[in-house]
Amino acid sequence: MTKTLITYFGTYGTTEKFAKDISELTGGDLFEIEPVKPYDKDTAYYEELADYAKKERDTDARPEIKTLPNVENYDYIFIGYPMWWYTYPQIIRTFIENVDLSGKTIIPFNTHEGSGDGGTYKELQEALPNSKVLIGLPIRGENIKNYDQKGNIKEWLDSLKIDWSK
Ligand SMILES: Cc1cc2nc3c(=O)[nH]c(=O)nc-3n(C[C@H](O)[C@H](O)[C@H](O)COP(=O)(O)O)c2cc1C
Repeated sequence: MTKTLITYFGTYGTTEKFAKDISELTGGDLFEIEPVKPYDKDTAYYEELADYAKKERDTDARPEIKTLPNVENYDYIFIGYPMWWYTYPQIIRTFIENVDLSGKTIIPFNTHEGSGDGGTYKELQEALPNSKVLIGLPIRGENIKNYDQKGNIKEWLDSLKIDWSK
């Protein structure tokens, strides 16, 4: 049984693609962090979502999550998200505050259009003092959409020196 869980949140499929590549390379299980109130990507144009997300950040909102994963049997927990307004989406805060991640090894990854990880990996470590947060990988969304990223992702995973089968 795998001890690796790949959790992710995203709106336009980019972070999901990244998560699926990680799952293929590690054999880990996938878990999508889904909001109770969906971010409507069909009717809300990118700009509307941008405004909405900015409000959530400015009010330090905690968007509700449909279901939380049972992480008891997992040792390695990936957390993936797109950069939203220079930080992680507020729903990631809901997630880390409501799932017991103490004692777990956390591996962040994210998509972006220029901000890189924006300091969020460090922020995650500060928010999760009882977990070990490893070095994550930021990838530009456009690169995920247009090019195969498996080579880059594999290189990063190898650098973590974890035997995913154990
Ligand atoms: C509301 C919103 C805010 C964003 N803010 C940033 C940002 O601050 N920095 C950045 O590099 N990209 C930003 N982006 C771009 C996304 O991080 C990028 O398009 C990402 O790949 C989308 O992932 P997804 O397809 O999984 O939703 C933002 C996108 C949205 C929708």
